Amino acid sequence: MAETSVAPGLEGIAATCSSISEIDGQAGRLSYRGYPIDELVEHSSFEEVALLLLDGELPSAEALERFDRGLRSHRQVKYNVREIMKFMPVTGHPMDMLHCAVASLGMFYPQQELSDSERENVSHLDAMAMRIIARIPTIVAMWEQMRYGNDPLPPRADLNHAANFLYMLTGSEPDPLHARILDACLILHAEHTINASTFSVLVTASTLTNPYHVIAGAIGTLAGPLHGGANQKVIEMLESIGRVEKVASFLDERLARKEKIWGFGHRVYKTRDPRAVLLMGMMQRLAKAGNLRHSQLFDVALELERQASERLGPKGIHANVDFYSGILYHEMGIRSDLFTPIFAMARSAGWLAHWREQLADNRIFRPTQVYTGAGPRHYPRGPSRGQNP
Ligand code: COA
Repeated sequence: MAETSVAPGLEGIAATCSSISEIDGQAGRLSYRGYPIDELVEHSSFEEVALLLLDGELPSAEALERFDRGLRSHRQVKYNVREIMKFMPVTGHPMDMLHCAVASLGMFYPQQELSDSERENVSHLDAMAMRIIARIPTIVAMWEQMRYGNDPLPPRADLNHAANFLYMLTGSEPDPLHARILDACLILHAEHTINASTFSVLVTASTLTNPYHVIAGAIGTLAGPLHGGANQKVIEMLESIGRVEKVASFLDERLARKEKIWGFGHRVYKTRDPRAVLLMGMMQRLAKAGNLRHSQLFDVALELERQASERLGPKGIHANVDFYSGILYHEMGIRSDLFTPIFAMARSAGWLAHWREQLADNRIFRPTQVYTGAGPRHYPRGPSRGQNP
């Protein structure tokens, strides 16, 4: 029998062909549909990037206007979704709530299950994707209000995606600068080739289940600390360090125990993650201009990056996107357990682009395994076994 080899973590194995995004891990470059991420952050919006990811080309002004109008008019979720959320423990993690609430949407909008002809209807798939992208921020912001005993705020159709989320989250008129920063963060988190959560999208989509299961599965996968959950861990780590003078001893102890530095390292990037570079630049510009509250944590982060890069850089381990996104959200006054749900809001665009790509050329995922268990054996019989009650 031919020997089957196993690649742990599927490192280096191409699981699919995709035209959605590309990473050059040596050069530290990321592009969506061929457009460099820094140009998109500079000139585009999350709404336009979502449509670019879904459709493959930058949309015309009319197509973007239609999509944006669709997003604004589908933000509301059914009242019963809120009823389900009401019975969830307020001490639960918002990612657990989001996973559950998004999965439940498939029951509230069952007409969106896919028939054979619907799977080939691109505008139908786009409309389904748009509704999911529109509703995830609503659910996250509703939860933030509900868990502190407040009534959720209705979405506002006069605000763009990022600004409406901030409004629903805080109940105040969003600061235009904060809305612009969040928009840039959403662009930077919208897509990233076949990472763990996107791979889960491919697997779930390949069974032809409805897109709510696909996205709920991806949310569950993103929640782990080795993936999207790292941005919350970064803030907890910085808080535990507390002061710039403690950075060196923290690193000494942690690395001696062979523990990881949250927000560092990446399977693909062997240089600085370009998203971290953009986020750090954004933070420094804003801090200089006095537009963000510049906490002690930010100084701890800068020092930690400097010292950790000196020690880990030679091994190809550098700061990744989660290192700076957490601090940026923290400086904007957002609670740390919402960082990963915000990541999911952004990544829903990339996930749904991969869902569409998978459906366009589908084959169910069914890998093989190398069996390492016991050989054939007989069920033992005796006084305590093998006697049907
Ligand atoms: N801090 C310290 N050492 C790290 C590290 C980190 N953040 N990330 C990787 N390493 C080290 C490992 O200890 C290991 O060292 P060794 O060869 O001496 O045993 C080596 O680098 C390879 O690590 P490994 O975990 O096998 O790499 P991976 O490609 O499987 O994992 C990550 C990639 C992202 C899961 C990993 O870097 C990590 O856990 N980072 C922290 C979590 C994080 O920030 N996740 C967000 C990713 S965007």
